[in-house]
Amino acid sequence: MAEFLKDKRILLIVSGGIAAYKSLELVRLLTKSSATVRAILTSAGSEFVTPLSLGSLTGDRVYTDLFDLTDEAEMGHIELSRDADLLVVAPATADLMAKMANGLCNDLASTALLATDKPVLIAPAMNVRMWEHTATRRNLAQLSGDGIHIIGPNEGDMACGEFGFGRMAEPAEILTAIEALLGPGGGPLKGRKALVTSGPTREAIDPVRYLANRSSGKQGHAIAAALARLGADVTLVSGPVAIPDPFGAKTIHVESAKEMLAACQELSPVDIAVCVAAVADWGIADLAGQKIKKGKSSTTPMLKLVENPDILATLSNKSGNRPALVIGFAAETENVIEHAREKLARKKCDWIIANDVSLPDGGKRSGVMGSDHNRVHIVSGDGVDSWPEMTKAEVAAGLAARIAEQFNTQDSEQ
Ligand code: C5P
Repeated sequence: MAEFLKDKRILLIVSGGIAAYKSLELVRLLTKSSATVRAILTSAGSEFVTPLSLGSLTGDRVYTDLFDLTDEAEMGHIELSRDADLLVVAPATADLMAKMANGLCNDLASTALLATDKPVLIAPAMNVRMWEHTATRRNLAQLSGDGIHIIGPNEGDMACGEFGFGRMAEPAEILTAIEALLGPGGGPLKGRKALVTSGPTREAIDPVRYLANRSSGKQGHAIAAALARLGADVTLVSGPVAIPDPFGAKTIHVESAKEMLAACQELSPVDIAVCVAAVADWGIADLAGQKIKKGKSSTTPMLKLVENPDILATLSNKSGNRPALVIGFAAETENVIEHAREKLARKKCDWIIANDVSLPDGGKRSGVMGSDHNRVHIVSGDGVDSWPEMTKAEVAAGLAARIAEQFNTQDSEQ
């Protein structure tokens, strides 16, 4: 393993969640990358992993008490938190996140977090309902606004038997995030500005109702994260989704197609635009100022639709500061390549990533809406490259690598 983190000092805070066992693996990966790791274990955390196992892996004593005179003599909480290059909280429980969001400090972990002047990365882990609770959403927004870096959580089966978002990011993912924050920097897309659209849009009918679609945002978010991993300066413009903001990208949240277009225009000029969002083709012509009431008229209300702006076509046809590379997506059920070629010509983008949603199982496993898998064909002026079915994260990584290759070729031709 490369010594990306040589001479870097990590203060790892392990709070009380079942995912604490994964933090042992994280320590192992960090030390393999030549980082020095010190660990703080909260009292709840010590119910899940022991100071002995954590200390054996860090090769240091494990810090647990705020008022330990020996600690204060050797290394007080202030020094402990400032001696590190980065503080990593993994797992970050709902409780510790709430404390951080409110500046509470009644134990060593929360005190170190308040006393630090170093960047902080948290890997939330909790039950899906706790993750979705408005209090946690509020705390998350606060932490994100405070400049705390957040990775995950992932979706999956939980130790409590439920399914959903709340699983801590995998140790390897946390390591990648740490490397992005502390590593030598660079990457093949360093210096490139990228814009990614993701998720659905919502088209308001009245103050309480809207038209939307089932896009999950998984593919677009994964692409934003993959481009950021290669060093690009990424802004994700996302419609309303249930998944967390991707690591390493700045995320702008919007609702309607018009808002999405305005956010994209604001970001201009960019080098790369990847339009993954399932933008609603139509908006509502006459948005009602008040909630439309039942029984007010003898007929049921008629919705009059108007065509929405096409963001991909607008970016592709920009005169002056058009992005050097504009990529669109196309979900097709038949004549996939043919339709993608037609879309490429009509919208004047550079590549179309055609999603094949016509698999024998009705596109449940592969496909755009909600699935974790995708089967894509990259259609460009150079021809068609068909990839086998893979996870959306793998598609994202492959696409980011191909984008980097394109810029590399362009640079060497100049
Ligand atoms: O025309 P269609 O919706 O099939 O095109 C899909 C591609 O165009 C996707 O890349 C999508 O993000 C983009 N698009 C857009 N604005 C629209 C409609 C689609 O950017 N209003």
